[in-house]
Amino acid sequence: MKRRIPSILLALVLAMSCVSAFAEDAVSSATVNITSFPAVGEHENAKVLVIYFSTDDTVKAVALTAAEALEADVFEIVPEQPYTAADLAYYTDCRADKEQNDSGARPGIADWPESLEQYDVIFIGYPIWHGQAPRILYTLLEGIDVSGKTIVPFCTSASSGAGTSAVSLEKISEGGVWLKAKRIDNHSTAEQIRLWALSVLKETAE
Ligand SMILES: Cc1cc2nc3c(=O)[nH]c(=O)nc-3n(C[C@H](O)[C@H](O)[C@H](O)COP(=O)(O)O)c2cc1C
Repeated sequence: MKRRIPSILLALVLAMSCVSAFAEDAVSSATVNITSFPAVGEHENAKVLVIYFSTDDTVKAVALTAAEALEADVFEIVPEQPYTAADLAYYTDCRADKEQNDSGARPGIADWPESLEQYDVIFIGYPIWHGQAPRILYTLLEGIDVSGKTIVPFCTSASSGAGTSAVSLEKISEGGVWLKAKRIDNHSTAEQIRLWALSVLKETAE
């Protein structure tokens, strides 16, 4: 005899699959697992600089944690026109969407680094925006001279990999030696970030 699955059971299964899809989403957009930022200071003779751009503190957490481990100086890219929540509501044709769709967009930077002369290694951190680095990174890299420096690109994202983001940046900057971009996993701990940063620095010295 054929037994029919009661519709209540079907509804339950459907509801559960929705909940699990939502849970996966929530996990993939979780932020890096660091609750407080280390206090990073100026180091008189630092050879390493960590530059970062971050609108929601995920990249910032990675950048400051790495900088602390590396005893590096830190430079935050601050936009001339700050990004509001509406500017960042991606897939709504928001400001950030428009900038990423326009290969010539170069959002202004409020302050520029004074001199990069003392640094041998520059870590550059950014969020992935539509598969690439935000256009403000292009503004920066077209405005500074990184020749002779080793560049360590790193990024965070909801789920995408680093893809060609750093290759695109390398193309518009001149003279630096670019390492492969590292996407920092959303579940990374401070210790994992410290170990990554120190191992990359060691690699650059070899
Ligand atoms: C305009 C925009 C586009 C985005 N595009 C992507 C994307 O293509 N892939 C992805 O995985 N995450 C994407 N994200 C999510 C961010 O990469 C992610 O939340 C990142 O960790 C944010 O870093 P932050 O907190 O330092 O700003 C996008 C976010 C914004 C605002």
